[in-house]
Amino acid sequence: MKLTIMNLRASYLILFLFGFGTVFGQEIKSPNGEMQLAFSLDAAGAPTYQLNFKNKHVIKSSRLGFDLKNDSTDLIQGFQIINSSESTFDETWTPVWGEESEIRNHHQELLVELMHQASKRKMNIRFRLFDTGLGFRYEFPVQENMGHFVITEELSQFAMTGDHTAFWIPGDYDTQEYDYTESKLSEIRGLMETAITPNASQTPFSETGVQTSLMMKSTDGLYINIHEAALIDYPAMHVELDDRAMVFQSHLTPDAQGDKGYLLTPAQTPWRTVIVGEKAGDILASRITYNLNEPSKIEDTSWIKPMKYVGVWWEMITGQSSWSYTDELKAVKLGVTDFSTVKPNGRHGATTENVKKHIDFAAEHGFDGVLVEGWNIGWEDWFGNSKDYVFDFVTPYPDFDLDGITAYAKEKGVQMIMHHETSSSVRNYERHLDQAYQLMKDYGYPAVKSGYVGDMLPRGEYHYSQWLVNHYQYAVEKAAEYHIMVNAHEAVRPTGVARTWPNLIANESARGTEYQAFGGNKANHVTILPFTRQIGGPMDYTPGVFEMDVFNGSHVNSTLANQLALYVTMYSPLQMAADYPENYMRFPDAFQFIKDVALDWEKSLYLEAEPGYYLTVARKAKDTGEWFVGNVNGFEGRTGEVKFDFLDADKTYLAEIYSDTADAHYKTNPQAYEIRRVAVDANSVLKQFSAPGGGYAIRIREASKEDLKGVKKLK
Ligand code: NOJ
Ligand code: CA
Repeated sequence: MKLTIMNLRASYLILFLFGFGTVFGQEIKSPNGEMQLAFSLDAAGAPTYQLNFKNKHVIKSSRLGFDLKNDSTDLIQGFQIINSSESTFDETWTPVWGEESEIRNHHQELLVELMHQASKRKMNIRFRLFDTGLGFRYEFPVQENMGHFVITEELSQFAMTGDHTAFWIPGDYDTQEYDYTESKLSEIRGLMETAITPNASQTPFSETGVQTSLMMKSTDGLYINIHEAALIDYPAMHVELDDRAMVFQSHLTPDAQGDKGYLLTPAQTPWRTVIVGEKAGDILASRITYNLNEPSKIEDTSWIKPMKYVGVWWEMITGQSSWSYTDELKAVKLGVTDFSTVKPNGRHGATTENVKKHIDFAAEHGFDGVLVEGWNIGWEDWFGNSKDYVFDFVTPYPDFDLDGITAYAKEKGVQMIMHHETSSSVRNYERHLDQAYQLMKDYGYPAVKSGYVGDMLPRGEYHYSQWLVNHYQYAVEKAAEYHIMVNAHEAVRPTGVARTWPNLIANESARGTEYQAFGGNKANHVTILPFTRQIGGPMDYTPGVFEMDVFNGSHVNSTLANQLALYVTMYSPLQMAADYPENYMRFPDAFQFIKDVALDWEKSLYLEAEPGYYLTVARKAKDTGEWFVGNVNGFEGRTGEVKFDFLDADKTYLAEIYSDTADAHYKTNPQAYEIRRVAVDANSVLKQFSAPGGGYAIRIREASKEDLKGVKKLK
């Protein structure tokens, strides 16, 4: 092995025993010593890394580098180490909202500064090793021989140790709205075709390409998650599997020209993350993704507040009412079409009357907000027409009285949530963004749900390319200027950027509840999402459906108790109660849980977890100190266990348990639930049945002996 060592300062270069072989290079250990990272240049001068956890390989020797456009000397091999340095970081920070009130960022860092010999270009690789996994990124400092450059492909490898079980969705440049497939890595190729289900915009790219966050389980008992953190000014990363070698390689989303990233120095990539644990719950408890993002850039965050909301929404999704006002128009021209003269279709959802009904309902039941979709002109031909000037985001339909509704909501103490469907005409959205946000300010709307349905305009661009990543970021940063919170649907999946921009209170960016009305989600979908989509941040999953047989004939694959549990298991500071008010009034006792459940948490515990099968989470509310427990269950019925040892030892509590009955089933008997009240303390243990596609939800609050009179004690 030939090695050239230049200017080796501030660091050590040692021979060390790593796993099964001797490697020449740098090694660091995580704060508790259990995670080990080794970096070295191989014989050809290619950067490589390995990751071990408790002396087991997690990532076998894997290469790092770049294929650059128009370049005879790609950043692949022929590097020298010019310097390397190690440092320790330990800081506890306070998120504006979240699963816990304090987050510790404790890691060991290794910075390796490399020189590409042939081109005399510098590339650094920064590794951060936490007790729960690894983050690394590439950095390109300001330098003589590199100003602007175009990436053909990033060549980051993740070499697996075997044929792991994976929970995956097809790699796609435009959508994440897929059901998950559980399979061995070697089976991905054979299952890809069936995994690709239809979407309004989709561009799958390979038989073995899958999306991150990718959740895996190894035969030697490790849970491994690959994702990215701080996706800023760069395309989203997929991973493509070489299924003979069992090596994943990064696959960036291209732009309309097929190029992958336009960078200028100083530049850095997002962090590539590998989260590792012996229990599935360890993956959920890891805070690597947020810790690898920058602290909040918003100084005064007092205007950012979690919200529970209802909406004029599910009725359109299920086909009962329409977003559009009329069926008469073939095309709508902004500033030209006169809506006062066209015939309404009689099915328009966003009417003043219907909105007021929802405001009344929100006020009566303590909801913070009401979302209204289809309020602004343009929905008649919004979709599938590649229309540039599609919406202006400020002009209401004639039957939506913006002033009247605003005054009414104010009087009732309810906030309105704005809706901006862009239909992926992104340049058009940017054109109107200031006036659209200004209207929200003027009318006191604190939050916007935005959306990116359909193929992109500019034509040929993809939802996850660098240009679009920059657009979503621009919309969030601009919203911050107006003190507006953003919930973006169909945007790129989150990567912890909400730490830096906490006004990004949610995203959809996965297959949400809407698909329950488009043919259904797999009954175990919600046992997987927390391990995949939610690694990057909260999801606006829009739960709370009580009537499973919806207007268009579709069936919601979930029990009612499972719907309640989602408010706990699917963490989000923005939670919708999606169903119609009338359906809640049919089950007022179950609806009580949605009214009671908290939105912001002091701590979260992952009590039982197995992706695809079950997940039980306990969370303590920030303001009231009440505890909530949620369990969601996969295809098979199961009896789980909750040990209440997280409660204070010297206190007694009242637990309200909302669960499936013994004969509940997501397909045949979804509304079969029961509610019981029991007294619990820190020694109590609950054995609780969950039906197929079912679950349970528990509210636990401190109670005096007096309060608990007549209430049975749980043994
Ligand atoms: C897709 C979103 O996910 C959904 O919630 C919304 O209703 C439609 N787009 C229309 O904007
Ligand atoms: Ca969607």
